[in-house]
Amino acid sequence: MFTTVLPKPAPNQVTAIPSDLFRAIADLKQELNAVILAHYYQDPDIQDIADYIGDSLGLSRQAATTNADVIVFAGVHFMAETAKILNPDKLVLLPDLNAGCSLADSCPPDAFAKFKAQHRDHLVISYVNCTAEIKAMSDIICTSSNAVRIVNQIPKDQPIIFAPDQNLGRYVMAQTNREMVLWQGSCMVHELFSEKKIVQLQVEHPEAEVIAHPECEPQVLRHASYIGSTSALLKYVHESDTKAFIVATEPGIIHQMQKQTPHKKFIPAPPMKSCACNECPHMRLNTLEKIYLAMKNRTPEIILPEETRKAALKPMQRMLEMSA
Ligand code: 13P
Ligand code: SF4
Repeated sequence: MFTTVLPKPAPNQVTAIPSDLFRAIADLKQELNAVILAHYYQDPDIQDIADYIGDSLGLSRQAATTNADVIVFAGVHFMAETAKILNPDKLVLLPDLNAGCSLADSCPPDAFAKFKAQHRDHLVISYVNCTAEIKAMSDIICTSSNAVRIVNQIPKDQPIIFAPDQNLGRYVMAQTNREMVLWQGSCMVHELFSEKKIVQLQVEHPEAEVIAHPECEPQVLRHASYIGSTSALLKYVHESDTKAFIVATEPGIIHQMQKQTPHKKFIPAPPMKSCACNECPHMRLNTLEKIYLAMKNRTPEIILPEETRKAALKPMQRMLEMSA
């Protein structure tokens, strides 16, 4: 239940944007007892107004423990859905409902149910980048931060389906030295990095180390001296003595890297085409204006059928226990 009674939204949807957007969002945060959770791939302005910025595991943990009545999720749909799974009685707002995820979309529930039926004795471990329906069909959820740790806790003779990201799955197989059946999904951003251009950059910047997210393809990962989730990459560049990095993940993370270590150099890994397609088009749908309007109008809200939510909660709780 809400601990405070939320003030009613304006009877008609507000569309006007105040001149001091930062002040207006701060006022609404107080009025609604709201918390703004943002992923590292958000625009710098959004990261700067967030109460908490994190990777998927950190954001899930925050969502699981927040005292706020309203969660404003500056991220993509599956992340806001995860917050709702953990907080059925809170109002969870996603500033733009179109902020989806190509990886989550690559695993439709009907096809996944058939796939599961072909591997009945398998335990299903699903990467958090999937829909609530897929979570509901899974035994354990993982993120890129804890996937290796979770798989290592499963008895060696237990066969596993890993879904939906084949690249993370392959990386986990190599790290844990065990076979898994992989769903063949992938992220449209992380599969676009150009190995050739990364190698060229290494030649031009011999002082730079390549660091990469495990959603990248093997031909990119093999050039990386460090592979990790967004928060692991951030920690690594902070603690490393190296002064320059070629960063193979969505470049939104570079804002925090630069803030944390302004004296270091961060070069975004280039995509194959000459485009800004290393920026996640879904993540980048959120704007400060949309965050303000979502809070002012208390919409768009994440709503989930209770049966799906309950079924999806179990593997989420298992993940939180196994990575405590
Ligand atoms: P993490 O922040 O958990 O590493 O995930 C990256 C990602 O692709 C989120 O969509
Ligand atoms: Fe999904 Fe890839 Fe965007 Fe992450 S970066 S939200 S995995 S499309």
